[in-house]
Amino acid sequence: MTVVLPQPTLSRYAHVVRSGPKAVGFNSLTLEAFDLAPTDVSLLESVGRGEIVSPELLEPLIETGFLRDDVEADFQAIQRIADSRRERVKTRAGHFGTLRLSITEKCNMSCTYCFQQKMYPEDEQPVLSREQLTETLNWFIEQGRGYPLSIQYFGGEPLLEWDNIVYAHEMLSLAVEAGTIPSFRETVTTNGTLLSGQRARWLVDSGFDLTFSFDGPPEVNDINRLMKSGRGSFGRAMRGLRSWVEEGGRPSILMTATAGNVKDLPEYVRWFVEEAEVHPKDVGVNSPQPTSEGWETGGTELADAIWAVWKYCRSKGIFFHGPGTYIPTHLQTLIPQTDGCVDTGASGAEPSWPVYVSAEGKKSLCVVYHRDERVMADPQRSALEEGSKWHYAAEPLKECDSCIASQICGGPCALEKILWQGRLNSDRCDFMRQMTKLVLLDE
Ligand SMILES: C[S@@+](CC[C@H](N)C(=O)[O-])C[C@H]1O[C@@H](n2cnc3c(N)ncnc32)[C@H](O)[C@@H]1O
Ligand code: SF4
Ligand code: SF4
Repeated sequence: MTVVLPQPTLSRYAHVVRSGPKAVGFNSLTLEAFDLAPTDVSLLESVGRGEIVSPELLEPLIETGFLRDDVEADFQAIQRIADSRRERVKTRAGHFGTLRLSITEKCNMSCTYCFQQKMYPEDEQPVLSREQLTETLNWFIEQGRGYPLSIQYFGGEPLLEWDNIVYAHEMLSLAVEAGTIPSFRETVTTNGTLLSGQRARWLVDSGFDLTFSFDGPPEVNDINRLMKSGRGSFGRAMRGLRSWVEEGGRPSILMTATAGNVKDLPEYVRWFVEEAEVHPKDVGVNSPQPTSEGWETGGTELADAIWAVWKYCRSKGIFFHGPGTYIPTHLQTLIPQTDGCVDTGASGAEPSWPVYVSAEGKKSLCVVYHRDERVMADPQRSALEEGSKWHYAAEPLKECDSCIASQICGGPCALEKILWQGRLNSDRCDFMRQMTKLVLLDE
């Protein structure tokens, strides 16, 4: 009697990513990737078309989970993320390790795209008072007792509040002397225009890292990065960066992608590295600001630009950070993304969440959005309760199940769920899928 074996079917988690002759098979459920020979690709295409193929030929592909000879359970990818998140809550200490502190919402510039400056009317931007600063730091140090902490001075323009930066540094130093925390790191994200040589000297001596916002060469930078007078800021900002480097600071720039500049971002980075008067050792690209309509830049073109910049930086030995640069860690460790945009779970570091304190002294669980009751931390509840509620509450949508990026993207984060009311955002999805494919082809 002849036994008729069932014809295998393609798993819904099987993806073939191709570029020229290179083909990579990727199991989006297990995060395993492997090179596919042209014969494997043809076999998979035949199965996809429903053609009968000899079972012996298909055996190895069944072992990879690419082909199934049984009925595949629904929503395994969503389940895996939900299970991983539940597991993480059990195992993590749960403190806020990074404080993004908006020391003032005021700014001496008026960049055309600035989300921060759009949050408050021009003459009603708050400044953090000395009392609020002391209270915030006492709270941050106490809840992070025993852990290394990181503080990012942000704004508005943080260097407008110089005395408070010096004061905060002293408070953190005292916390180390008292043995409350083992160490701390301080960074300033600045437009650079208010940095004198003397200030640069103090910041270098005090161990600060500075990041200077620039979008490219002067004629490009000055399209959007404008002084209040409407004049371009490049010259003043470059003077600040020069002072920083002359005093021994590490040159680091941070770029903002817009619909107008995204395609040329790689060329602007090349210009900075090869032609500008100060050559950066670190290059960053800001994550797009989510709005109720989606992202301000298209997802696929942003991924292509980020990838080109990333590869160029790698070739020059420059450290690059930007959206999606965490993807290789997940592909190497096979650990799904559990904490949304701020995941540290796959990196092996002691996991912690970031928290944002606005210049009104309000704590937000999201570092990019704070003027909304729905993102605020409840001061009566612990960091663990608040962080878990925010970072683990959002489960991916059913549409995410067979997505190539499901275990890497994890679906819209808690803020995006609020802003997009349960819908997927095509810019974000296009970005995550394209970035995942580009990284896979590079592995
Ligand atoms: C809000 S600023 C505050 C710090 C400082 N004033 C500066 O310009 O670096 C921090 C960063 O956010 C970026 N940024 C402003 N608006 C943005 C937007 N709509 N989308 C993405 N990044 C934006 C800025 O270019 C800058 O690199
Ligand atoms: S300098 Fe920074 S805070 Fe000021 S307007 Fe520009 S991006 Fe916004
Ligand atoms: S890219 Fe889009 S579809 Fe894929 S997991 Fe993320 S949110 Fe879901």
